[in-house]
Amino acid sequence: MCGIIGYVGTGKTADILMRSLKLLEYRGYDSSGVAFCCGKNTEIYKCTDRVSVLEKKIQGRAEGSHCAIGHTRWATHGSVSEKNAHPHRSGRVTLVHNGIIENYKELIQLYHLKEKLVSTGDSEVAAALIDRFYDDDPLKAIREASKQIRGTYALVMMFEGREDEIFAVCKVSPIVIAQNEEGRILASDLSALTGTYENYFVLPEDTIVRLSMDDLCLYDLSGKKKAPYWKKMEQQDRALDKKGHPYYMEKEIFEQGTALRNTLEPRIREGLPDFSADGIEGELFASHHHIVICACGTSYHAGLLAKRVFESFGRIKCDVFLSSEFIYEKPFMEKDALIIVISQSGETIDSLQALKIAKEEGHETLAIVNVRDSSIARNADYVLYTHAGMEIAVASTKAYTSQLSLLYLLAYRFALCEQERKEKVMEKIRELKKVPDAIEAACRDKERYAGLAGILKDEKDLYMIGRGRDYPLLMEAALKMKEISYIHCEAYAAGELKHGPIALIEKDTPVIACISQEDLLGKAASNIKEVRARGARVYAFVRESLAKQLDMKIEVFPLKDLEDELMPFSAIAAFQLLAYYTALEKGVDVDKPRNLAKVVTVE
Ligand code: M6R
Repeated sequence: MCGIIGYVGTGKTADILMRSLKLLEYRGYDSSGVAFCCGKNTEIYKCTDRVSVLEKKIQGRAEGSHCAIGHTRWATHGSVSEKNAHPHRSGRVTLVHNGIIENYKELIQLYHLKEKLVSTGDSEVAAALIDRFYDDDPLKAIREASKQIRGTYALVMMFEGREDEIFAVCKVSPIVIAQNEEGRILASDLSALTGTYENYFVLPEDTIVRLSMDDLCLYDLSGKKKAPYWKKMEQQDRALDKKGHPYYMEKEIFEQGTALRNTLEPRIREGLPDFSADGIEGELFASHHHIVICACGTSYHAGLLAKRVFESFGRIKCDVFLSSEFIYEKPFMEKDALIIVISQSGETIDSLQALKIAKEEGHETLAIVNVRDSSIARNADYVLYTHAGMEIAVASTKAYTSQLSLLYLLAYRFALCEQERKEKVMEKIRELKKVPDAIEAACRDKERYAGLAGILKDEKDLYMIGRGRDYPLLMEAALKMKEISYIHCEAYAAGELKHGPIALIEKDTPVIACISQEDLLGKAASNIKEVRARGARVYAFVRESLAKQLDMKIEVFPLKDLEDELMPFSAIAAFQLLAYYTALEKGVDVDKPRNLAKVVTVE
């Protein structure tokens, strides 16, 4: 959470900063701010609004500046206010921070910093502490402060009296750095590095970097110089163009067909799953007999669905954990368990920690991530990238279906470990290849979902019921609905209704029932009857080929036909659209729902 940027160079500093901050805004958008080095002075501008508002505020300012730092905030400590917005200035130090300083209260006491602070957060304490240690040697001050600070941080600083120089240090929270003929840039992630950069490197933990107009130097915490480990910059898909869609979320829903094709095609050879181009050979599948999935939010929901495919078709035991609970559950894992961490951003701190714990315990780890070279990708033994393209809307859509498609493919690969399943796997792959078209067909039905959204928009509570694979699928559908439309929406396993949730049903309670699995039609229909008998208003999302068999006077939304196991793909497209249009009807900012951020780097 929080995006940080720093630039030194001859380019148009303000323009570079604003462009990068807009690209980082998905990490947090409670407030934003910039600090320009203007000769001997530092000019700071902040606002408790979006970067576009900050941009207006700085128009015509700091025009001759060649050095600046910037920040877009997701509030952790301290309310959303200008004084809590970054950059923070304390004495001769101006700083932006991403992460959490856990011992900030102790530091205030220990170093008598209280009088120096104007904000109520943890970040300004870092600035005050570094200033306390500063005697014209920035490296020494940062070194001393780093030894005292506990927590996660990416700190980027400018020091009074040191024109056109930026310093940075990090622990857990990432910083990437690049340079070209014009100058040097650093940021929280690669997506913000606009410009023609051929190479970049990731700042190692406990390393200080100094960027100046003509130089770039790295030092470890004992003051010794280090060499950066440069990597080639891949073509960045910055996807800032909404391509005619009013919101990124709609664009990303519509891009799912392409995202899935790009994710699947390079991993299918001669009709069978093949991960050798990802550096994963057959041994990996043969040597593991237990899969443990750790993930959060939507990625966790992908894991829940995948478990059913791993176990029923892949014939491998699979357990799924919320990364944030994995640490406490202390689950039993077979010695040869393969830990799969799923994360769109590759930066979710809980998932990163789960991965590190699994590694410490000696397990092999595989990451499924969308963002190249993200922290989870860098820390895992193996990486499978979803090629979904950059996902900007906070509500995850194309990343989810891409993750799911890869997980299915992995399950099919595990199935090949058993003799005589080649034909069956080939058949599965042929079906899987139909998924992108089915999702695109569902998108063409958008008007239907927009119509239902108009009816649901004022509801306070909404329930979703389904059996089998439809249950984990509806958990994802309900998350989509609540995170962007703010309607309280819960998914229940339909068989569980009688064990409690049915008490919530009264006259006119809206219930969405999903029936995508052929063998569950009868039982699911009974559940619809039960809630209708108690007055519920039911909308049924039913697999097209089953719709006629559901002989009830209720509104039916047909779902594009795929084989049973793959039905969640066509169903989720419908539910994503329903959530999207409901949010649109409510007039909220669909891409940036309240209180959320795209990248969750705090526990
Ligand atoms: O980047 P990750 O996949 O690790 O993120 C996990 C969750 O924060 C994320 O899926 C979140 O639930 C989305 N906003 C859901 O749309």
